[in-house]
Amino acid sequence: MKTIGVFDSGVGGLSVLRALLAEMPQARFVYLADGAHAPYGERSPQQVAERAHRITDGLRGHFGIDALVVACNTATALAIEGLRAQHPEWPIVGVEPALKPAAAITRTGHVGVMATRGTVESERFARLRQRLEQASEKPLHFSCQACDGLADAIERNDRPAIESLCQRYWSALQAGLVSAPIDTLVLGCTHYPFAADVLQELTGKAVTLVETGVPVARRTRAVLDQPPPNGTEGPAPSGVVLLSTGDPAPLAQAARRWLDLDSPGQHFAC
Ligand code: DGL
Repeated sequence: MKTIGVFDSGVGGLSVLRALLAEMPQARFVYLADGAHAPYGERSPQQVAERAHRITDGLRGHFGIDALVVACNTATALAIEGLRAQHPEWPIVGVEPALKPAAAITRTGHVGVMATRGTVESERFARLRQRLEQASEKPLHFSCQACDGLADAIERNDRPAIESLCQRYWSALQAGLVSAPIDTLVLGCTHYPFAADVLQELTGKAVTLVETGVPVARRTRAVLDQPPPNGTEGPAPSGVVLLSTGDPAPLAQAARRWLDLDSPGQHFAC
């Protein structure tokens, strides 16, 4: 049985864990929320990279994991190259805003992207965006919005704050000078799928929301050379360990709320 480490600044990576559990029900997962240092989106690139290295070393050292999923767009943007250089022989799968799938499905050519400030301002994101806009045969424009505070509001499950921030950022995206309407909205932070109902209500059904959990889970299975799920197996007994560098209670509650997962959270210092 494979053991896979998964980490995020907080509860957002549970949206990726949900897809991983469906894709590899028999695997064992060690999920770490870096609660003591969340949110990452408004921290410096150096701080995020340092945390990503500490967590990777902690999970590798204590749990002998076979692979790591960086279930955080911000940490992927700011640290994945360094992590891969540090652990060259070992599989590390990252999460990037789904610009490429969005470019393939947009009909108006205008794609909105919501992500953290750390992701939107990263060089890795700028390169991805530029490459796709330049390579596109049809008109393609990404309007990108740094959503300060939104991951934190989701972390606290603060519904009024989630609604008002989603309203503010969706309005800001639409206020750009691009004449074609946005028909595709990329949820470029793993927290945002947990606000998808609020966003879809604001955008209306004509806008397609795109997230990355399922493709990341498929990629992880392929990298580990595991068979596809056969639809009959249930999750492995005690298949998920939940850890937080901060208070583990909010993580355990979120896992119960969103994944129907009954696993006690534990504190883990790294
Ligand atoms: N969920 C993370 C991401 O995908 C980080 C959010 C945050 O901590 O600001 O970017």
